[in-house]
Parts: sequence; structure tokens; C-alpha cells
Amino acid sequence: MENKKRKISIIGSTGSIGRQALEVIEKLGDKFEIIALAGGNNVELLKKQAEKFKPEYICSNAPSPRAGEGWGEGLTILHGSEGLEQICSNKENDIILVACSGKIGLKPTLTAIKNGIDIALANKETLVMAGDIVMKEAKKHGVKIIPVDSEHCAIHQCIKDIKQVDKLIITASGGPFLHKSIEDMKNATVEQALAHPRWNMGKKITVDSATLMNKGLEIIEAHHLFGFDYDKIDVVVHPQSIVHSAIEYVDGSVIAQLGLPSMHIPIQYAITYPERFEGIKSKSFSFSEIARLDFEKPDFEKFPTVKLAYEMGRLGGTATACMNAANEEAVFAFLNGKIKLFDIYEITKKMCDEHEVIENPTIDEIFAIDTKVREKTKEYISTIS
Ligand SMILES: NC(=O)c1ccc[n+]([C@@H]2O[C@H](COP(=O)([O-])OP(=O)(O)OC[C@H]3O[C@@H](n4cnc5c(N)ncnc54)[C@H](OP(=O)(O)O)[C@@H]3O)[C@@H](O)[C@H]2O)c1
Repeated sequence: MENKKRKISIIGSTGSIGRQALEVIEKLGDKFEIIALAGGNNVELLKKQAEKFKPEYICSNAPSPRAGEGWGEGLTILHGSEGLEQICSNKENDIILVACSGKIGLKPTLTAIKNGIDIALANKETLVMAGDIVMKEAKKHGVKIIPVDSEHCAIHQCIKDIKQVDKLIITASGGPFLHKSIEDMKNATVEQALAHPRWNMGKKITVDSATLMNKGLEIIEAHHLFGFDYDKIDVVVHPQSIVHSAIEYVDGSVIAQLGLPSMHIPIQYAITYPERFEGIKSKSFSFSEIARLDFEKPDFEKFPTVKLAYEMGRLGGTATACMNAANEEAVFAFLNGKIKLFDIYEITKKMCDEHEVIENPTIDEIFAIDTKVREKTKEYISTIS
């Protein structure tokens, strides 16, 4: 990487992870060449990014952005899911950062893998929906999947010899309701749910962090990324978000990765792996300034989403795709003021209970289940809201 620019595309460049990735790339100067930037509806920001970073392609999901409409010269304008497919089939890329939110990430990730392109994966929903298929394809095509999620990035950094690791320990900040009552949580407003004490993220993941479903999704993500049984993946609440996760070796030694809570670090790790650079380092780590680190057991009564994720993970097949689809639709309904925060869990659980799991599904079956569960969830929400 030192002598050659790494060619990168970013799916979701206008989002929280995408914007921070561009800050990292800017800071690293001539280490990267951007092939494509893709966003959803924020065309104005995508335009500014295109002007600054001069990619060959941009892709937007907004209605028909066209060449000549202030995009500058020499840029190929792509659109929607076809555009994402084109970007992810372009073998010019050394790596693609998948930083869109929700189910949109799965198809482009699979396309990139089939084209032998390494993936820096922020979009955890990809592995929750189709982890078995994605990891199998990655192995088949010799593709690296490097996690961006700070917890999985931490585990990735701790593991030297995976065969000697006995257990993964994923930390959770606990979100804004950690020390609030269940009643407070039940009556929470959208604003309260979005007020995460540690991380500034997109709305979907922030609500998932408030219900702790985010931790549930991360348990499933860890199962697929590192190949550990669910019995060997623990969750511990750590409100300071300094210990990003840990592993326990068979001999009882525990190795943890620590750092200030900044997504710049795991993003940079993922896109520059296996090399490290100074990059964006706001300040040096100081144990004495941090002074204390607290750990506690998760409260499964207040955060039943974590238990549900373990259950669906153990069931396997389409169970986790069902949970993901129902949760995502319920989160959108909460953000639109249609349901209460705690309803997200109740609705997701109902959809999971009623789901007939398909074992070893094909990718088409997963997409069909995803569509069906979303329709059913929306229909159910319309009867209760
Ligand atoms: N944020 C974090 O700190 C963090 C940490 C760990 C993991 N993650 C994971 O990273 C992913 C992204 O999270 P985020 O917080 O960055 O979300 P976000 O801020 O909501 O950003 C989502 C991005 O996806 C884009 N997008 C939406 N629809 C699209 C489409 N059809 N085609 C292409 N792009 C589309 C959005 O574009 P527009 O804005 O232009 O509509 C935006 O760029 C999630 O899976 C999340 O779980 C995030």
C-alpha cells in the first residue's frame, strides 16, 4: 500500500460512516484513489463530495441526477441499485466500503465479493440477513471482509490464532436508557432515543442502540465473521466505550482492544488493513485521564432484544433475516411517530414467533422473506397505530 494508491469506492458516502471515511481518506493524503461514491437522497452533499474527491463515478438514489447538472466534467453518473451493481462489479476497486444502512447493503456486497473485491463492512445487516452465504462466497473468492463496527474491529485486532480463542466478549455502551427505568424507556420520545451518550451515528443504528437491538445484530455479525457458536459470544455493558471488545484465550488470558470512542479509528483500520498510519488521532490515550472503567451485566428484562437475537441466531436459516426486516420496519415506524419505543421489540418478537424458518435458504429466498416480513410488519403496525 505504501507504493501504490489503494483504489476504493464507498457505498453510503453521505452517511455518518461514509463522511468519516472521507475525513480519514483526506487525512491520509495520497494513500487512496476514489473510484466511486454512492449515496441515497442527499444529492447536495454527494455533489460536494464529488467536487472535492473527484471520483470516476457517483451513484445516487435520488430521482435521476444527470450529467451536466452541476456535477462537473468527466464524471459518470449512475442511479439506484443498478448503479450500485455497476460500482461493485468494477474490478478496478481494491476495496469497497459498504457504509449504507439496512438491507440495501447485501446485494452490492455480494456482487463485490463475486468480483474478488475486498470489503470493509460497516453494514452489519448484510451478515444478519445472509451471513452464511456471504462468508461462504468470501471464502470461495478469496475475499477479505474487514469489519468496521468498533466491536468487531476490536476482536479482529485481538485475534492472533483463532483456534486458540475460547470466547468473544462484546462490549455495549448501554445507550441512553441504561440507567433509566423500563417505564421511562416505554414512554421515550424519538428525541430521547436519538440522544446517544457516546456515539454520533445515523438514526437507524441510534434507535437500535437505544433498544440494544444493535448489540443483538452485532452478536449475529460476530458469529458469522469469526465463526463462533452463540454460547461462546458474551455481551457486557461498558458505559465508557473505551474497551471496544475482548477475546478470551483457552488458557484464560483475556486480550482487549482499547481506544477513545471515535469511529475514525476502526474505519481507518478497515480500509488500510493490514497497515497502520497515524491518520486522524485526536489525542493520545491516557489511562490516568480515563481513571475508571465500569462493566455490568446486560438487563435482559429491559433489553429483551438481545435475548431475541441470541434465539434467532441459534435458530439460523431465515430467522435472523426475519428479525432484521421486522426490526427495521418497526424502527422506521417509531421514527415516524407511529409506535412507541418498546413496541419495536414487541412487534419484532411477534413477527419472529410467526415466522416459519427456512433452513439453508438461497439468497432469493432470503430476499423474498425480507419483502414478506416487511409487508406483514407494516400491515400489523397500521392496525395498532
Ligand atoms: N454510524 C456509526 O457510528 C456506525 C458504527 C458501526 C456500524 N455502523 C453501521 O454502518 C451502517 C451505516 O450507518 P450510518 O450510521 O453511517 O447510517 P446513516 O448515517 O444513516 O447513513 C446511511 C447512508 O446510506 C445511504 N443510502 C441510503 N439509501 C441508499 C441507497 N439506496 N443507495 C446508496 N446509499 C444509500 C445514505 O444516503 P443519504 O444520506 O444520501 O440518503 C447514507 O449515505 C449501518 O449498517 C450501521 O449499523 C454505523
